[in-house]
Order: sequence, then C-alpha cells, then structure tokens
Amino acid sequence: MKEKIQEQFKQRFGTDGVIYASAGRINLIGEHTDYNGGFVFPGAIDKYIMAEININGTDKVRVYSMDMDAYCEFGLNEEDAPQDQWARYIFGVCRETIKRGGVVKGFDTVFAGNVPLGAGLSSSAALESCFAFALNDLFNDNKIDKFELAKIGQSTEHNYCGVNCGIMDQFASVFGKKDCLMRLDCRSLEHEYFPFHPEGYKLVLLNSKVKHELVDSPYNKRRESCERVAATLGLETLRDASYTMLADVRDKISNEDYRRARFVIGEKQRVLDVCDALERGDYETVGRCMFETHDGLSRDYEVSCEELDYLNDVARECGVTGSRIMGGGFGGCTINLVKEDRYDHFIATAKEKFNAKYGHEPEVINVIISDGAHRVED
Ligand code: GLA
Repeated sequence: MKEKIQEQFKQRFGTDGVIYASAGRINLIGEHTDYNGGFVFPGAIDKYIMAEININGTDKVRVYSMDMDAYCEFGLNEEDAPQDQWARYIFGVCRETIKRGGVVKGFDTVFAGNVPLGAGLSSSAALESCFAFALNDLFNDNKIDKFELAKIGQSTEHNYCGVNCGIMDQFASVFGKKDCLMRLDCRSLEHEYFPFHPEGYKLVLLNSKVKHELVDSPYNKRRESCERVAATLGLETLRDASYTMLADVRDKISNEDYRRARFVIGEKQRVLDVCDALERGDYETVGRCMFETHDGLSRDYEVSCEELDYLNDVARECGVTGSRIMGGGFGGCTINLVKEDRYDHFIATAKEKFNAKYGHEPEVINVIISDGAHRVED
C-alpha cells in the first residue's frame, strides 16, 4: 500500500511527502456504552488508513483518494466545506484542529486503506485519526495532546458527518498499542492496557458484508433514548444508573427507552466482568458475556439484523466460546472468540450455511492487535 501511495503522490504532485497511518479497531465488549459515560474495551488492529502528505505553500488542501479514485480540493475556512462525504472527514479534522487553536495550512495528500468499509471496524475513525495525527506533526510540533487528537476526530463526526458518536473509535485509533486491548473509562478517559494473548483461542471476525441503510439516523436515535432516560433519572449519563433506578421510572418512560437503558446498564457491568475474567484467564466467562451482549444488542437495543443474528446462531451451534455483533450495528461483523480446535469447523460451517441462506460467504477477517496512529518511517 505504501509504495502505491508513493507512486501516485509523485505522479500527481511531483514531489514526496511524509507518510502517516492510523488503525481501525475491534472492541471485545462494551458496545454503545461510550456515549453513556461507561466503559469500553477496544484495541487497534493491523488494518490501516495510510496517507502521504506534503505542505504545498497555498491555502488549499488537495486530496486524492486512491480507493475511490476521487479527487477533491477545498479551502480551510468554514464556508469551504466540500460536498463529498469522504472529503468532509478530512475537512472536518482540519477545521476542528483550527478551532482548538492549532495551525493548518494548505497541503497535498494521497490516501488509501485496507480497513473494510461498513464492517464496523471504524474506517472513518482511522481516517480522522490519521489526519489529526499528521496535522499535529506537520504544523503543530506535536503540541496537541493525544486526548485532543481523539476528540478532534469525534467532533468531526458530530459537526461534519452527522453522527453523534462516542469517543471509543477515535480513542482506540489514536491510543492503540500492539498486543494490548484497553479498558477505557469514557467519562474520565482513564485507560488501562491489558495484554491480550488468549492462549488456545483465536479471535476472528466474520463480516456479513451487509450494510443496512441508516434511514433516520438510528444510531443518533439510540443515543437520544439513553439521554432521555438519564434526564428522567436526573443524571448526566446512564453511567450511574442501576436496574433499581430504572425500575423506579419505568412508568415515566416509553417501553422502547426502557429497553435501551436496560441494555446499557447490563453492558457497563459486563465490561468490568470481562476484565476480571481476563485477569483470571477465564475465557469461558468472557465468551458468555459476549453472547449476552449480542442478545441485548439484538433484542433490547435493536441494532442487529437477520444476517448477524444468523451468524451468531451458527457460532452457538458450533460451540464457539463467545460471539456477538461488533460496533455500531445495522450490519457489519461479528467478533468471535473460538477455541483453536473448533476454529476450522466453525469457519467452514459459517461459510457454507451463510452462503446457502444469503447467497454469499461472510468474509473471514483475522486481526492482529496493533499500534494506533503513527508516522511511517522509511
Ligand atoms: C460506533 C461509534 C462508537 C460507539 C460504537 C458502539 O462505532 O462510533 O462511538 O458508540 O458505535 O459501541
């Protein structure tokens, strides 16, 4: 990927630039808890967005996306926002850096990636983090701290892409560390790295390759439900809510909001239970929590879909230790914790059965837990 980017950059802009990369992420457990001030447990992976960048001495940014074979040029003022959605991620990162007092001047860039799009692996956070890191290095002597870099990506989603996401994806993409998952407290941003070597198990993703249309921003709607319940409870977020408190306001909230909050309260605890279980090397408990998360995401939070529920059923039938939908939902991947001796059987069965039912095989994605945003040295 690096050589192709370099070749393209030279051809288009006639110079060389500096290369940066940032990673997609997985999340072992803790879904839809980030914007509720709860805990998440992600890690950066060996799938990247990579960009070559060179300062061009103008007040314009000139961007070429290799994967889309698309070019865009924009200025750095608010009114210069491009129409193309893909370019808005980069524009947003520039603007959010400037809003925080950072310097951004014109630059040329070519970027490409191997984070599967729409798979729930946060290709957009990888793109944002790559550029946030790069602009900090190129124009700001790395004076913007890493927490702020993650927030630049998150605010880009909020203000330029219409998704009121939490901090998990951008945090994982910026702070990712090789071989480690991290438990992140999304309220305080305190985080702890957990070396992750599940002896005798494999972690594998199955990409259903389905993307359901997000008409009416269902992600934002989930967040609104949680915020309504928190407000009814007199809390800032559901972080401090309990099942008992929820039961007390049951007749003041809709049944739908009740179920959304019930999931979040359970999920907060599951992250902590999984961390304890990992410290004991108790992967059976980790797996059981993953299945519980899937059930909650499917029935109470309603962000699953038929294809992902089917992959989850097949995982159960094959004796997989833990399996669940991963990421925001409405399509994408399941994450599966599988005993090594069941791996081949599981993958073969999932491919065959899914293909028979939906006419295509799920994509098997093996991931290595890797470093987050960085400058790629020659
Ligand atoms: C998306 C969002 C994250 C998080 C997850 C669900 O990936 O970007 O902030 O809310 O969904 O856990």
